[in-house]
Amino acid sequence: MMNVKTMHTPEVQELLEKVAGFNNSDGNERVKTILHRVMHDVFQIIEDLDITQDELWTAVYYINQLGANGEAALLAPGLGIDKYLDIRSDEADKQAGLYGGTPRTIEGPLYVAGSPKSEGFARMDDGTDTESEVMLLTGQVTDQDGNPIRNAVVDIWHANSMGAYSYFDKSQSEYNLRRRIETDENGRYTARSIIPAGYGCPPEGSTQHLLNQLGRHGNRPAHIHFFISKPGYKHLTTQINLAGDEYTYDDFAFATLEELVIEAQRIEDPAKADALGLEGPFTQVEFDIQLLSTEKSELHVRHSRLRALEGEQA
Ligand code: DHB
Ligand code: FE
Repeated sequence: MMNVKTMHTPEVQELLEKVAGFNNSDGNERVKTILHRVMHDVFQIIEDLDITQDELWTAVYYINQLGANGEAALLAPGLGIDKYLDIRSDEADKQAGLYGGTPRTIEGPLYVAGSPKSEGFARMDDGTDTESEVMLLTGQVTDQDGNPIRNAVVDIWHANSMGAYSYFDKSQSEYNLRRRIETDENGRYTARSIIPAGYGCPPEGSTQHLLNQLGRHGNRPAHIHFFISKPGYKHLTTQINLAGDEYTYDDFAFATLEELVIEAQRIEDPAKADALGLEGPFTQVEFDIQLLSTEKSELHVRHSRLRALEGEQA
């Protein structure tokens, strides 16, 4: 049907308008505008690529399965959507003169709000995961002139030695590997935790199913997520990738940035371990964070999206 061109006909154009509710005065204008455009483009794709019945219904039932698996927000980063929104936000910041500081990178779908809060230091792991090495994660939060920022909230989350996140992985304890640390008077935060393993999409899931069709893997390097905020400063959503992982520069979610690749340091000195109350060698990960000051209070907080337990706890 490659020569079948009907998009330009009044019949199809009128169909699209009715689909989007243009012929009624109810509903939501913004939704109508977006839906009209989306369906127009879907129809256009069907015409241009001569999508078959078989392909179309495969896609429809794929969406059913994706939703049933709860994977829509997992697939999005794999399709570059989160990265694209970052690119747009970076460009908007540039136009507003808000550049510099530690770069943003994607949040991902696995944040859980309301993790335990402490000042200066937190232990993040519950002690049950003995597969991974002890990680000492530490750094300083400063402004663009290098002045320490005290009482900034550093909200950290990462996976366990299996690449799995608490809350989503029900075998882990509540808020395991999730903590909020307020920086001390020197702007410093320190966490004792375990080195996370890289994350892989569920191998039998809908995301991996589509990635397979693209000849792509569904792996992320070992990484640690951060929200850093303090009133008066631009909220920062970022993450660090650990250097030396097979996927450090081959992240299926496109979150890697050169400035956010951290070389972890193995500390063998027993005296240093002893000073921290640790039995043996550990791995130190240092991540300093520079925030940008801004008066715009809407930039002081993270953008809204559906997040686990958000709005349920302080
Ligand atoms: C996905 C998983 C992550 O841990 C992450 O940080 C980003 C994306 C995902 O499954 O899509
Ligand atoms: Fe992650």
